[in-house]
Amino acid sequence: QNEIYLSGLADVVPDLPTDLTKLEELAEQKLSAASYGYVAGAAGSETTARANLEAFERWRIVPRMLRDVAERDLSVEVLGTAMPAPVVLAPVGVQSIFHPEGELATARAAASTGVTMVLSTAASNTMEDVAEANGSGPRWYQLYWPKDREMAVSFLERAKASGYTALVVTLDTFTLAWRPRDLDQAYLPFLRGIGVANFYSDPVFQKAVGGPVTEANKDAALMHWVANFGNPSLTWDDLAFLREHWDGPIALKGIQHPDDARKAVDAGMDGVIVSNHGGRQVDGAVASLDALPGIVEAVGDRAEVLFDSGIRTGADAAKALALGAKAVLVGRAYTYGLALGGEAGVRHVLRCLQAELELTLMLAGVTRPSELGAEFLTRV
Ligand code: FNR
Repeated sequence: QNEIYLSGLADVVPDLPTDLTKLEELAEQKLSAASYGYVAGAAGSETTARANLEAFERWRIVPRMLRDVAERDLSVEVLGTAMPAPVVLAPVGVQSIFHPEGELATARAAASTGVTMVLSTAASNTMEDVAEANGSGPRWYQLYWPKDREMAVSFLERAKASGYTALVVTLDTFTLAWRPRDLDQAYLPFLRGIGVANFYSDPVFQKAVGGPVTEANKDAALMHWVANFGNPSLTWDDLAFLREHWDGPIALKGIQHPDDARKAVDAGMDGVIVSNHGGRQVDGAVASLDALPGIVEAVGDRAEVLFDSGIRTGADAAKALALGAKAVLVGRAYTYGLALGGEAGVRHVLRCLQAELELTLMLAGVTRPSELGAEFLTRV
């Protein structure tokens, strides 16, 4: 914040707006209709995507005064990872449709800010290349659990070998939902060979399609991807298999019901991510923020509860933290930054989010995320 004001003295204004809610419209002007539809769109008539945003409007912060906020510390430790602030880059696949450098740009922005990135199984770059771009930055791996168990284990081994320290298992997207913006444009990046890099580079996948993917076997490779992406028959009992093959922390992403959160803890999971995939899966589903308090109450003392779906600003993040989230993940907000400015665009978003979060807390009379609680909010 200081940097932004000081550069104003030299008549230098930021390249991108500091009100991050303005990025979506700018991204629309820059991206192709198909790429923009893929990121901005959601399931069905997008009622849940809108509800995710509206839920934040119904909570208002109640600032407290005269509390000595001269020294502040936003750092937290989540799933064994030290963070400068409780903000994480959500797993977003197929990033090359938003910027030619894709996840590599995001990984560099994350490393330069110390923010943890969660790399998607559906990334357009391999996890090894992203790890290299991320260097000594903190990174977690998001698993879309493929049908072939040997391939799942191979993904986990590769992730471990390339320095991803925690595992995020996304449960809500074992198949893609009814997404009219994509359907109306007949657009699915995967079918155009984008977002399959981690499958195609995998030794178990290659064995199944007769070697590295080339012109000769590319149709067979795509069919093998289709056959393996997502497994609708998984149940809670299958989590023991993951626990066996991953010795670091595991968080389940896509939890919306307190009973599911309890089951996650009973299955030995270290965390849950309260998320409805940004409204991209079940249209008409509850707003993710409305699901948060019940889940915190159910398992908050036994597991780390993270939150996503609908965070656009630092003030939004403050509200989710006050409702009990240990950290928040952002999806579209940084993806728009990536589309507009590559690595620098993602960095801009992260710096704005963190600076606005810090100012919001400070002006509300809070010096540490752990001091936040529901008493800082009122429902309108
Ligand atoms: C996603 N999300 C997602 N989640 C996941 O676990 N694996 C993935 O590959 C993807 N891919 C993806 C692509 C795009 C374009 C978007 C917008 C989202 C969901 C993401 O992790 C997160 O849950 C939501 O984006 C959170 O909602 P907001 O912050 O976008 O409102």
